[in-house]
Amino acid sequence: MNEKEKQTDKKLNATHQDKDHSSRGISAALHGIELSAVLTIIGIIVLFSCSIIVTLIAPRYVDPSWTSASSPYQMQMYEISDPNLYISSTVKGGSTLQFVYHIKQDFTLLAFKEAETTLFVSPQDLKKYITSHEEPVLKLTSRTLLLRKPKKTELFNAVAEADKRREVAQTEWETNHPQWKEEQLLKPAFEILELYQPEGNEAFAIAPEGILENWVDQNYKILDETVQQKYHQDPGVVYINNPMEYRFSHFTYAGQEGWRFDPEGNAVKDVHELKSHALGFRSRAELITLGEHIYAIEGCWYCHTDQTRTLIQDVVANGSASYPAPPSSANEYIYQKITFPGTRRIGPDISRVGVKRPSRDWHKGHFWSPKTASPGSIMPSFHHFFDDDPRGTSRSSMGIPNYRFEAIYQYLLTKGTRITPPTQAWWLGKDPVQTKEIIEGKRR
Ligand code: HEC
Repeated sequence: MNEKEKQTDKKLNATHQDKDHSSRGISAALHGIELSAVLTIIGIIVLFSCSIIVTLIAPRYVDPSWTSASSPYQMQMYEISDPNLYISSTVKGGSTLQFVYHIKQDFTLLAFKEAETTLFVSPQDLKKYITSHEEPVLKLTSRTLLLRKPKKTELFNAVAEADKRREVAQTEWETNHPQWKEEQLLKPAFEILELYQPEGNEAFAIAPEGILENWVDQNYKILDETVQQKYHQDPGVVYINNPMEYRFSHFTYAGQEGWRFDPEGNAVKDVHELKSHALGFRSRAELITLGEHIYAIEGCWYCHTDQTRTLIQDVVANGSASYPAPPSSANEYIYQKITFPGTRRIGPDISRVGVKRPSRDWHKGHFWSPKTASPGSIMPSFHHFFDDDPRGTSRSSMGIPNYRFEAIYQYLLTKGTRITPPTQAWWLGKDPVQTKEIIEGKRR
């Protein structure tokens, strides 16, 4: 020990002496340690805290692109389908599937968009939630609102209002088609529904087929923003076109029990009933798990890989025309029990297929007959993803998609849609455009 160190040692001892009894143990322990060692330990703690601040806390304030989307492509890649979605096929023999949404106050974002022949009436205070047919901007709300057949209540006579609306729509149509009698045009039957606020904070609603393509490919505006709104933490949005209150009735046909959507019928009591044998709805989350199994047992992975490598040809092949896709990262597989990176690419890589091909119709055609959807394809057709239709009621040569189809489709839809912003930020640049420029050598 040099002179200086001895002095500080003495000082330390002096301060230790007037500490109370309880700290004597610590001072005794410290007594034997050199000051430099104590400083080293403090230094390590300070450095460790700094590293936490730098890696976990600071980026949120320093660079917004680490935590928020930096391009439309990124926006599109978030998982936007509601896990509270239930899917079932209609009455046996029908060709459509029914989707039931579990709507929660401040949780589900809804849009009520009129179609050419489907119009809505509502009390004055709900009028702002209706998006008319031509409006380019979809109005979204997190309030629990539903549509039903017009009903007369004390506060609002929807029946009279609906009749008025129908009359106006019909005269408008006639003035727009002055020659309709000569041209023998069919006068459209306008359907009028009432937008109303049900009691309670939860409800079930049905949406016709096609809704599943809930990529928001339209501009939207959220009318009510609730701070607690879950979807504001989870980026992305869910919308439902024309939800109707879900009511059903049972019937027997040719000795078989069936059920159908029936506005006059009973309401679904709870999720338990929805999932019961009679109704047979499955949540999207359950279908995805089933889809994962199907992917394994059908051996899709013999021919398909599930990984976008960091190679230029991968990010370009899996991206869209304007943006390369980010390479796969571990967090994308987080919900999967088994992962299928695959080794051979007889078919294209599927890790971004949910973004590349969101269309349910395309997959329907492709699984039924890959050669028709994609000339020259050697992918086998998967007819057992469809039920055959002995009564011939589907009026098309294609079978009726069954659960297997729905499951594999839902599974494929997750591919490329579970990317979280940090994945991109971690990789090269922060923005796919920048990344592309880096790849092309325009930027360093
Ligand atoms: C014998 C090999 C083979 C098997 C097995 C196979 N596929 Fe394919 N798949 C292909 C080929 C080849 C293509 C490219 C041509 C085409 O689009 O059909 C393809 C295309 C696809 C596409 C379109 C991808 C795109 O980016 O255009 C999807 C989705 C797909 N397959 C899913 C599946 C699923 C799911 C399974 C399992 C149920 C499966 N495939 C089994 C060979 C196969």
